[in-house]
Amino acid sequence: MGIGVAWLEETLRDTALKMEHTITEALSAEPRPGERVRPERLLAAMRHATLNGGKRLRPLLMIECARAFGRQDPGVLVAAAALECLHSYSLVHDDLPAMDDDDLRRGLPTVHKAYDEATAILAGDSLLTLAFDLIADPRVHEDPAVRLVLSRDLARASGVGGMAGGQMLDLQSEHRTLVEDEIRTLQAMKTGALLRYACEAGARLGDASDEDIVRLRRYGEVIGLAFQLADDLLDLEATPEVMGKATGKDAEAGKATLVSLYGPERTRAILSELVADASRLAGELGPVGQRLADIASFVAFRSH
Ligand code: IPE
Ligand code: IPE
Ligand code: MG
Ligand code: MG
Ligand code: MG
Repeated sequence: MGIGVAWLEETLRDTALKMEHTITEALSAEPRPGERVRPERLLAAMRHATLNGGKRLRPLLMIECARAFGRQDPGVLVAAAALECLHSYSLVHDDLPAMDDDDLRRGLPTVHKAYDEATAILAGDSLLTLAFDLIADPRVHEDPAVRLVLSRDLARASGVGGMAGGQMLDLQSEHRTLVEDEIRTLQAMKTGALLRYACEAGARLGDASDEDIVRLRRYGEVIGLAFQLADDLLDLEATPEVMGKATGKDAEAGKATLVSLYGPERTRAILSELVADASRLAGELGPVGQRLADIASFVAFRSH
């Protein structure tokens, strides 16, 4: 990936492999207790949406935040796969003709192009619900009360006051001028909420103290904003070949982004400040925080 931090390059590759494995297992043809059959076409569309070379950044954050508190067993991967399924659903629906109308995702035809719109809607629905099946898995945490909090927080991060609500604000922002605060709110919801969840949930998986859970929630908020600023910058400056998705779309659609408000140079300066904020929060965890600081730089200054 050419990001210059050896451990992170290796860990991203390793996380990607583990996610492929865990999601493949969750999408096996065999119905689970309580299910009847798993229609092959729907399963194939769900696999297309998930087993396709995403960066697996949210799983990485969750795994690393749990690791910061000494938790590294396979149950963490199940929770990380839940979040990746939910994120992948959000992409399937984001790409639909009624939303951003995109043909390319992760270097492949979008699900509605490879299949059809109805199948893409159902694949998204099924990935969203699969996420809650996975997060409730006993391997995620031995204490059912923790699993309940993880489920509730996942619902809130993805629903009307989180990702889906942010997508609504994003669509309503097209061809309108938003002030900085409105853009920050929109982005904290549509993208930030799931990234924040990745970090906060990781801390919960590791049985972190309340103080550290708050610390990683704040780290996740900063990462969330940095992530979307970088995405908006890449939309302006990168090529579809590198990104595996169309670029130049935000300006065309009149999307309200901080890049549209401030231009790339000032956006890069804001990104540097966000990396410093995230690194300071990570540093408060002691030496284990260095990995989270490295991830902050990667998120902000990634090349795709
Ligand atoms: C893309 O997310 C969508 C946004 C929230 C901006 P990623 O850049 O993490 O996409 P994948 O998962 O690597 O494809
Ligand atoms: C998508 O934001 C955010 C979600 C999917 C929730 P974008 O519309 O900017 O993402 P890309 O650029 O299509 O990946
Ligand atoms: Mg969008
Ligand atoms: Mg989009
Ligand atoms: Mg984008």
